[in-house]
Amino acid sequence: MIIAVDGPTASGKGTIARALAAHFGLPHLDTGLLYRAVGWQVADRGGNPDSADDALAATAFPDSLLDNPALRSEAVGALASRVSVHPAVRDALLARQRAFAGQPGGAVLDGRDIATVIAPQADAKLFVTASVAARALRRYVEMRGRGEDVSRESIEADLAARDARDSARSVAPLRQAEGAALLDTSALPPAAAIAAAIALVEKQTNR
Ligand code: C5P
Repeated sequence: MIIAVDGPTASGKGTIARALAAHFGLPHLDTGLLYRAVGWQVADRGGNPDSADDALAATAFPDSLLDNPALRSEAVGALASRVSVHPAVRDALLARQRAFAGQPGGAVLDGRDIATVIAPQADAKLFVTASVAARALRRYVEMRGRGEDVSRESIEADLAARDARDSARSVAPLRQAEGAALLDTSALPPAAAIAAAIALVEKQTNR
């Protein structure tokens, strides 16, 4: 069983994908981390994330980089969004994601283009979203909890810029795939969002 979970930043898709993987006993891949690894490596080498050549050169990275907590920062998220517009970068990461989706027994993948590009054959497809205000508030609470000095306004502006870039790019833009169920988590606490996601997957897979 392949479950595709797509949606914008801070929509709750990561939490939902992890919970679905635990519930259905499937391995999980956070594909955003792959783009974050590329963005981090470009910056680490002093390269330019807007240069397709610099970004492509950074697509070879050791698996161990995916465990680096530095990849989780907002700054690296913004770099990931910039390197992810290059078609050559997306191509370079494609085989790895398709292999993960195709493993025996299935998998849960979350990202922006899982149901549209990586695994259009997925058995269940969710498009998880939430209002910019709700997403910014979550990110604000999370970052303040880590002791980061940020304003809600700057987070909202950053999320809106990232949404615009992810939705407007010519290759694999963020969009709800045909057949994907929409799950708006704006007013849902995590447990309710997870329960709703499980119910949608059960409905799509006739379980
Ligand atoms: O989901 P996350 O915030 O970690 O993703 C970081 C960035 O990587 C996104 O803003 C998006 O530009 C890019 N991305 C992508 N396709 C995916 C996953 C992430 O373009 N499947």
